Amino acid sequence: MMMKFLALIVLLLAVFNSASARKQNVHFDFCPTCVDFLNKDLGDLEKILSGGVLGSCSKVCSLLPAQSEQAICDLLCSIVGIDEFLKIFNELNIDPVYLCERLTVCPVKPGANGTVLDVAVQPSSGPHGTTFTIGVAYQVLSELGTAEIAFVVTDPTGTNGFGDAELLVSTAVGNYNAQFQFQATPSEGESFPEGVYQVQVLLCDGACGTKHGSTYNFLTTNFTITAGGSGNSGSITGGSGSGSGAAFY
Ligand SMILES: *[C@@H]1O[C@H](CO)[C@@H](O)[C@H](O)[C@H]1NC(C)=O
Ligand SMILES: *[C@@H]1O[C@H](CO)[C@@H](O)[C@H](O)[C@H]1NC(C)=O
Repeated sequence: MMMKFLALIVLLLAVFNSASARKQNVHFDFCPTCVDFLNKDLGDLEKILSGGVLGSCSKVCSLLPAQSEQAICDLLCSIVGIDEFLKIFNELNIDPVYLCERLTVCPVKPGANGTVLDVAVQPSSGPHGTTFTIGVAYQVLSELGTAEIAFVVTDPTGTNGFGDAELLVSTAVGNYNAQFQFQATPSEGESFPEGVYQVQVLLCDGACGTKHGSTYNFLTTNFTITAGGSGNSGSITGGSGSGSGAAFY
């Protein structure tokens, strides 16, 4: 744990140095860390900032509960300065990916483009407790900036959605695969009724389903939950790599 923390600090310092030294030549290694951090801590930060805090980056960031979060916050804030930091977080319709782009640690690439080529679910039907695997093939047509490959599963009532996304950073032209897993086990929060579940897989510039993000394209498929099976907790597992929860709910 301590080693991990130290490694993170070293990475932060390395990124910070390159960011301040030569802004146009930053490698965006820190982008996933920034997005993960804000996926977790954006609510806390907004609460702190809405209190109208005045002062330095370290003063604002010291109000976050954990030391590791304070360090990431301090680094991000230091890159743009406290005034710009407060300004960015005061914008409307902010989401983690957009914020990390504005904080200059995630790339923005005009003209980026890509397309979802194929989507398939295995198995195509099964009882409660079945793990459904959503396989995706996609193509990057022009190098991506900060993007997401995301899925949304809508239950047969059409009102409940579940999703997750994988963050893509500076992904080069080429063909790629992604895999998501979805386990439908009834819980208090969601009964997972039997029936046909629609699956939508999207490739987006920025974060899917946000005001600042936009969808390159999407494909749909479905799977069926049949009678039988049992269990007591639902879970959704994102693809490998750095997931970033998108607001599909
Ligand atoms: C992406 O490429 C497709 C296929 O060439 C094209 O139809 C679409 O307009 C492009 N989208 C963007 C945002 O450039
Ligand atoms: C489910 O997907 C299959 C294959 O893509 C399609 O033929 C069918 O119409 C879909 N069913 C529903 C209810 O969406």
